[in-house]
Amino acid sequence: MELRMSTTAELMLNGRKWSLPIVEGTEKEHAINISSLRDQTGLITLDDGYANTGSCQSAITFIDGEQGILRYRGIPIEELAANSSFVEVAHLIIMGHLPTHEELRQFSDLLTENELLNEAMKYHFEGFPTTAHPMAILSSMINAASCFYPELLHEGGRSTFMVQAARLLSKVRTIAAFAYRKSRGLPIIYPKPDLKYTANFLHMMFSQPYQDYELKPEAVKALDLIFLLHADHEQNCSTATVRMVASSRANLFASAAAGVCALWGPLHGGANQAVLEMLQQIHDSGDDGSKFIAAAKDKNSGKRLMGFGHRVYKNYDPRAKIIKKACDDLLARLHISDPLLDIAKHLEAAALRDPYFVERKLYPNVDFYSGIIMRAIGIPLEMFTVVFAIGRMPGWIANYKEVMEAPTRIYRPRQVYTGAALRHYVPIKDRR
Ligand code: CMC
Repeated sequence: MELRMSTTAELMLNGRKWSLPIVEGTEKEHAINISSLRDQTGLITLDDGYANTGSCQSAITFIDGEQGILRYRGIPIEELAANSSFVEVAHLIIMGHLPTHEELRQFSDLLTENELLNEAMKYHFEGFPTTAHPMAILSSMINAASCFYPELLHEGGRSTFMVQAARLLSKVRTIAAFAYRKSRGLPIIYPKPDLKYTANFLHMMFSQPYQDYELKPEAVKALDLIFLLHADHEQNCSTATVRMVASSRANLFASAAAGVCALWGPLHGGANQAVLEMLQQIHDSGDDGSKFIAAAKDKNSGKRLMGFGHRVYKNYDPRAKIIKKACDDLLARLHISDPLLDIAKHLEAAALRDPYFVERKLYPNVDFYSGIIMRAIGIPLEMFTVVFAIGRMPGWIANYKEVMEAPTRIYRPRQVYTGAALRHYVPIKDRR
């Protein structure tokens, strides 16, 4: 029999008792609301890495990490991956519902109308060294874009938010492709209004002024799927960062630029690049993966099995299952045999029967196979995390919108101070 959850939790402290309300989510997840804790008791909570802290209530994405469930606005990721597209899912995540034909047409038109950058922005790309990481360029240029479209900072209302969202979503793709072209010393390729979102990105990345890139439908589909699978993932490091910045009432572009910076790290979005580097290193060293697994288990080695483990999933990441199958399909259709895929599969099998990984519930995450798909499409390693950022944009936009629409207080965590106790200023002549 299922136990009914109480509506309050009781805290006993120094012989006194306090009552704290329990909040219940749609899927019966429960949280103790501690917002009055400090006022009532003088105490705060301490939670390393926020592993047990719900920072907000959100209606966008649901994850059950124990069961490996992921839903955008209630719809299972498996259904969206099988039937939908990135642009449709972006509408779902940002606006809260699947678009009608007319809504999808309007949204697609907005994406097309906003795909160009102000010409003056082109010169900003010149200022970066050719060695600059595209994530640095992406975050800088998203921020720079807010200077070129100042009206973004002042517009309000539901319909204009859609315009802002489309601008960001569309321009990010153009910025990403331009950053890549510049880093290779290649001329910029402008978007084509007749191409859909993902095809247009590949066109801007790989066409030449004298020859259009030949768009392979299976490659476009696989990349669109990667965007879709990354579209949101509740309160991860970058999304929490976007919400944090948004809570100060910073504009959408500034908040998204902060999200890009948070995503860059190898424990987060940067893991897709790190996975491929790891697989390449294993391949080049002639190891079958066993030496690397031994190193990943040794805390002193500084190594981790990249693309494995997740704060929330204690089961197979549902996105990884979909990506693994898409990876097999794409390589078969393109007649590519990639030794790194064999190494990845071998590593996965070895880790899943190794007690270290089993006991810690470490499974492949979204980043484990996505890089092999991107490599098959021809996307260079340094652009992998940029692809993740483009995909995550709808989630950041929807979370930004949620912060702005609810009367959220500025996010301002507290701390437990562990520094020096009171001491006094010593003039420099008296210091030892
Ligand atoms: N390889 C080896 N050991 C690991 C790994 C790994 N990939 N991940 C976690 N562990 C161990 C960790 O050392 C710790 O062991 P112990 O209990 O003995 O100290 C235990 O598992 C728990 O790990 P944690 O670091 O406390 O877990 P976390 O929830 O703080 O970190 C994580 C989650 C994703 C950062 C981590 O699993 C990791 O570093 N994975 C590799 C990087 C990666 O693939 N990141 C992409 C995440 S999915 C996409 C995204 O959302 O960005």
